[in-house]
Amino acid sequence: MKLFLGLLFSFLYCFSPVISLNEDSQVLIRVKSDQLQDSNEKLSSWVPTTDQSPCNWTGITCEAKNQSVVGVNLSNLGISGGFPNGFCRIRTLRNLTLTNNSFIGTLSSHSQLSPCSHLQVLELANNLFIGDLPDLSRGFGNLEVLDLSENYFSGDIPASFGRFPALKMLNLAMNNLDGSIPSFLSNLSELTCLALAYNLFKPSPLPSSFGNLSKLEILFLANASLVGEIPDSIGKLVSLTILDLSTNYLSGKIPYTIAGLKSIMQIELYDNQLSGELPESLVNLTTLLNFDVSQNNLTGNLSQNIASMSFKSLNLNDNHFTGEIPETLALNPNLVQLKLFNNSFSGKLPGNLGKFSDLEDFDVSTNDFTGELPQFLCYRNRLQNLIIFKNRFSGKIPESYGECKSLSYVRMGNNKLSGEVSSKFWGLSHLEFLEMYNNNFNGPISPSISRARNLTHLLISGNNFIGQIPSVVCNLHQLEVIDMSKNRYSGEVPSCVTQLNNLKKLDLQQNMFTGELPGRFNLLTALTQLNLANNRFTGKIPPELGYLPVLTNLDLSNNILTGEIPVELTKLNLNQFNISNNRLDGTVPSGFDNQLFVSSLSGNPGLCSLDLKPLRPCPRTKPDTVYFASILAICAVLMLGTLLWFSKTKSDCISKPKRRWKVTTFQRVGFSEEDIFPHLREENIIGSGASGQVYRVKLKSGQTVAVKRLWGGKLKPETESVFKSETEILGRIRHGNIVKLLLCVSSEKFSILVFEYMENASLGDVLHRENGGACLLDWQTRLTIAQGTAKGLSYLHHDCVPAIVHRDVKSNNILLDAEMVPRVADFGLAKTLQREVGGVDGGDMSRVAGSYGYIAPEYAYSLKVNEKSDVYSFGVVLMELITGKRPNDDCFGENKDLVKWVSEVAISSPERKTTENGSSCCRDLRKLVDPRMQLSIRDYKEIDKVLDVAVLCTTSFPINRPSMRRVVELLKVKNHKLALPN
Ligand SMILES: *[C@@H]1O[C@H](CO)[C@@H](O)[C@H](O)[C@H]1NC(C)=O
Ligand SMILES: *[C@@H]1O[C@H](CO)[C@@H](O)[C@H](O)[C@H]1NC(C)=O
Ligand SMILES: *[C@@H]1O[C@H](CO)[C@@H](O)[C@H](O)[C@H]1NC(C)=O
Repeated sequence: MKLFLGLLFSFLYCFSPVISLNEDSQVLIRVKSDQLQDSNEKLSSWVPTTDQSPCNWTGITCEAKNQSVVGVNLSNLGISGGFPNGFCRIRTLRNLTLTNNSFIGTLSSHSQLSPCSHLQVLELANNLFIGDLPDLSRGFGNLEVLDLSENYFSGDIPASFGRFPALKMLNLAMNNLDGSIPSFLSNLSELTCLALAYNLFKPSPLPSSFGNLSKLEILFLANASLVGEIPDSIGKLVSLTILDLSTNYLSGKIPYTIAGLKSIMQIELYDNQLSGELPESLVNLTTLLNFDVSQNNLTGNLSQNIASMSFKSLNLNDNHFTGEIPETLALNPNLVQLKLFNNSFSGKLPGNLGKFSDLEDFDVSTNDFTGELPQFLCYRNRLQNLIIFKNRFSGKIPESYGECKSLSYVRMGNNKLSGEVSSKFWGLSHLEFLEMYNNNFNGPISPSISRARNLTHLLISGNNFIGQIPSVVCNLHQLEVIDMSKNRYSGEVPSCVTQLNNLKKLDLQQNMFTGELPGRFNLLTALTQLNLANNRFTGKIPPELGYLPVLTNLDLSNNILTGEIPVELTKLNLNQFNISNNRLDGTVPSGFDNQLFVSSLSGNPGLCSLDLKPLRPCPRTKPDTVYFASILAICAVLMLGTLLWFSKTKSDCISKPKRRWKVTTFQRVGFSEEDIFPHLREENIIGSGASGQVYRVKLKSGQTVAVKRLWGGKLKPETESVFKSETEILGRIRHGNIVKLLLCVSSEKFSILVFEYMENASLGDVLHRENGGACLLDWQTRLTIAQGTAKGLSYLHHDCVPAIVHRDVKSNNILLDAEMVPRVADFGLAKTLQREVGGVDGGDMSRVAGSYGYIAPEYAYSLKVNEKSDVYSFGVVLMELITGKRPNDDCFGENKDLVKWVSEVAISSPERKTTENGSSCCRDLRKLVDPRMQLSIRDYKEIDKVLDVAVLCTTSFPINRPSMRRVVELLKVKNHKLALPN
């Protein structure tokens, strides 16, 4: 019967219309329909046609002779699905490439890959595969290329990976592998490329047996937890061209045997703990072009011999090198990049540096160099970066630098340079960043500066510059920061400076400027800091200053300003405010009528105030009396109330010999709870939530702290647990991205937590504030905030024992300090993972924790707490940073939130993956990104990468989300230095 059916089947098979397809086409069609999700219809050419061959189909390569399929390459087509092993039924198939797609799932079961044991090339890089690496014990005798990089594989490298007789390329970089680096890989005698970089390996040494990989050309082991010394056997790798062991924990000396690397072109050993001197044997590496040993503990001089090698880039920065730079360094015709910063080099620089090579990038900052600057540095007109700050260079800027048309980034601060700066130098047209602070330069700014159209930063504070600000400066519209403070400038400030609409900071303090302040300051809508202190400005304070939307620092002190304080100034949201020591008069506007502002107002004998001591009281005019009287009456009532409250609590305390509260300090603090209590008043409230209020308290010492008061007692048992989890957790945490708990006070009636105060409130505040707070947050700041927050969360998940899940990650719980450094806060809902669900605290879990819009979908079907729920919420925060939208903004419409909206706009759009083509990437991203950001192409590229991370973090299944530690790595979108050629 079976036989009969079989025959019947083959009969039908042979004569039905489908038979016109050849066998390979059938396999391909079947795989397409069963195993692939081709949502962008990139495989629309895969349809049965009368012409029997699939050789013209997208991604298919055939052997020319007999038209059999030998290659399937589906890279970059936005395809998803599990691993399509059906392709391997094509017995002639040699190459299977699925790079850069969204394939998901595991490969750990043996049956998944075993049909593919005849392949030569298997490339699955940059997909979403998870779980253990596949154990490929049988077959695979032909396998030459195995690329599983940029996935989420974890666990050990299986022993079978040491048994591929023909393997030439093994790339497992950028996964979550967490075993150790096995020495059996040295059995892969045909290997030319071995890449294991960026994994979470256990600390392990670089196996000495790797020296036996005599055909190895690329060894990429950056960020792979390597410890111990670099083995001597490294010198046996005679074919090696690229050696990248950067960002590990390698110690000891660079082995003398390194001279054996006869073919080496690039050595990356930066960011390790290597010590000792550079081995003289380096000299034998005549092919070496790029040598980076920055960020180690290396010592000694740069010897004559080594300096004479033909490096293209030589990076010795962040070490302990001493002595002078040999003249021979200047004779190298290849030298393009020289980075010697953060060492103790001394003496003069070689006079001919730059004369014989196309020097572009020159950084010798923070050393002890003396003498004049080398005059040929820009001889070939290629120099872009001239970075020499913090040395003792002296003399004038060489005349020849005025011809250096290529120069764009100059940092010469903190030297002893002197003399006038030539008009040619001021007018260098590619100059973007000019820093010359703390030298002895003199003379005026030449009007030729009008040619420096790209200038964004003019930082020339702390010199002896004289004369007026030339009005042509107003034409430099890219200017963001002008710091001309601490010079001897005089005359009036040209009123046209208000046309510089990108200006964020204007610092003219400590000069001899005269005249009135420019009036139309309100045009400077990006201005955050204005310092005109210690000059001789006269006239009134222009009321327009009050309309600067993002001004946070205003200092007009020590001038000769007159008139009243414009009431408009009270509109500003200032961190720093000083108008002291002028000749202002009149009534202090009620917004400043606060003890906080006394020092900001002092030294203006004409000022008067209602009740602000020590200012003199204002004379009362009749119509006001009733008004004031009523105010006074209200105040009196309020004060009485407060007094009563205090006397009551006081008497409570006094009646008992012991204090009725318990105090715990977590840091060394210069205050006690008694200093805090009087400030817990209505006017100091900066926020309130379900469990209590938050106050801003400025202590006598000048320190400002944030105080959270939770009403406890029998009324709200929840509050009690919030308090407990917050103190228990925060009390033992020390991390730069987690808010610091300073002190806690607990009693029956109330509990108080004292935190460090964060100047810039929360990310949510800054991002979603009505009037333009977000202008402050450019993309680079947002990226730094994302990176810092990720580090904080990663610390909670991976470095705390037991691990801590925050459970309420959202932009409102990410606080920003004065430098916009983020701190994760509000641990009220946090849980340590030790106490599992169903335990003593099980009851707590019965309600959904977290905030609407940030809650991971798994909460809907299980209340299980897991770090991956935080990862989801963090992904939402990333999307918030990119789009500037709230997670549940009305504009998303019915049943949609930020995650769904972003996924629809970003993911379904087919062009988005083609980031190489900047325009298509940007056109699509433009629908998504916060329109308030001004972005460069480079920013768009970074955003594109961060968006990928955000999407990954918010995938529905927790297992597919990356760990926070991985997210930290993924967010290093800048300078992601990869040794592998792409
Ligand atoms: C493939 O396409 C080209 C042109 O598009 C055509 O000339 C050729 O005959 C096709 N080959 C097969 C095998 O279909
Ligand atoms: C198979 O892959 C190898 C190595 O990547 C490559 O050189 C070769 O051209 C590919 N062959 C086909 C048919 O795609
Ligand atoms: C380096 O070269 C010199 C001279 O060519 C030779 O004597 C020395 O042994 C070499 N050093 C190494 C470590 O190969």
